[in-house]
Amino acid sequence: MRRLEIIAYGDIARSVHFAEVPEPTLADDEVLIRVEAASINPIDTKFINGHLRRIMAPTLPAAIGFDACGHIEKVGAAVRGLGPGERVYLRAPRQKMGSFAEYLAVAARFVAPAPRNLSAAEAASIPLVALTTVQGLVDRAQAEPGQRILIHAGSGGLGSFAVQYAKHVLGLVVTTTASSRNSDWVARLGADTVIEYDREDYRRRDARYDIVFDTLGGETTRDAFALLRRGGCVVSVAGPPDWQFARQIEAGPLKSALLWAIALPMEWRARRNGARYYRFLTESDGARLTEIAEVLDAGKVKPVIDSVFGFDQSIAALEHQAGGHAKGKVIIEMTTAG
Ligand SMILES: NC(=O)c1ccc[n+]([C@@H]2O[C@H](COP(=O)([O-])OP(=O)(O)OC[C@H]3O[C@@H](n4cnc5c(N)ncnc54)[C@H](OP(=O)(O)O)[C@@H]3O)[C@@H](O)[C@H]2O)c1
Repeated sequence: MRRLEIIAYGDIARSVHFAEVPEPTLADDEVLIRVEAASINPIDTKFINGHLRRIMAPTLPAAIGFDACGHIEKVGAAVRGLGPGERVYLRAPRQKMGSFAEYLAVAARFVAPAPRNLSAAEAASIPLVALTTVQGLVDRAQAEPGQRILIHAGSGGLGSFAVQYAKHVLGLVVTTTASSRNSDWVARLGADTVIEYDREDYRRRDARYDIVFDTLGGETTRDAFALLRRGGCVVSVAGPPDWQFARQIEAGPLKSALLWAIALPMEWRARRNGARYYRFLTESDGARLTEIAEVLDAGKVKPVIDSVFGFDQSIAALEHQAGGHAKGKVIIEMTTAG
């Protein structure tokens, strides 16, 4: 079978290539999936560039890609509740990437039946951004209906899902940032207020939020605390670590001490503002994807697809996503010639 592999850390064109490899062997708890579509996330290009080497360091060459939709071909001896022929979607775990491939073997606990009403490309666009949204806004922020949230980059792959989920599932009052060329369609996703970042400094609005969902990092993380109501929280997927981060990546004592020290300024800023700060990595979770499929089947959230590339065009697809201006998700379809 064919799969995309990273052979070295660096720029996409030089680091990624196609490889012909044997079909994966199946552990007892795994299912073998014939991949029909995969979606790209910024973590894929950050991993290729070597920015995540301290967190994810598989032996190279290594398979890449997290999100996929496809049909189950075989199931391991211990798998219950999933069978051959079933259409599923998944987010592969950090320890075993590989969705940019014709076949993928993954533990059944990370897999769920795909939303019935979506195409393979649409279903593949969902897992990572949906799990990130739920693990951030529900598990950590514990969002309550009626609360006010600021979501940065509402037009991105993550933001376009988070805006819809926050508005139509959690019942939040949503403000988002987007460029003026994207502001109208982001408002149609469900944002109550769109601040055009190329025309206005979002920090100058006289608005206070219960939650800031920080997808940009840098000064956006630092500035978020001044925008909070007392008792509010910043949930970040791009900022510096929090105090839980070392445990999440199972860091040893030395790395934990270092991460703790790096986390200190942001944790201190949170405490000074009577706020909470969370920085987390998304975890794979098939049970959660089953719940998310119901939300999609009910039409409460719709996939937002920027573009679809054939498998042969995967490297161009990765470069397009890495450009940082996708409107929603970039998809690779294995079933088209390219
Ligand atoms: N748990 C995790 O650790 C986790 C999980 C998911 C995502 N992430 C991180 O979250 C970030 C966002 O992910 P994504 O999938 O949404 O990325 P993305 O799809 O590449 O985001 C691109 C979007 O960001 C918008 N944008 C760029 N600069 C902006 C600014 N200053 N203000 C507002 N919008 C801006 C762009 O709009 P224009 O084209 O109009 O500029 C574009 O629509 C990435 O850094 C990713 O690695 C982390």
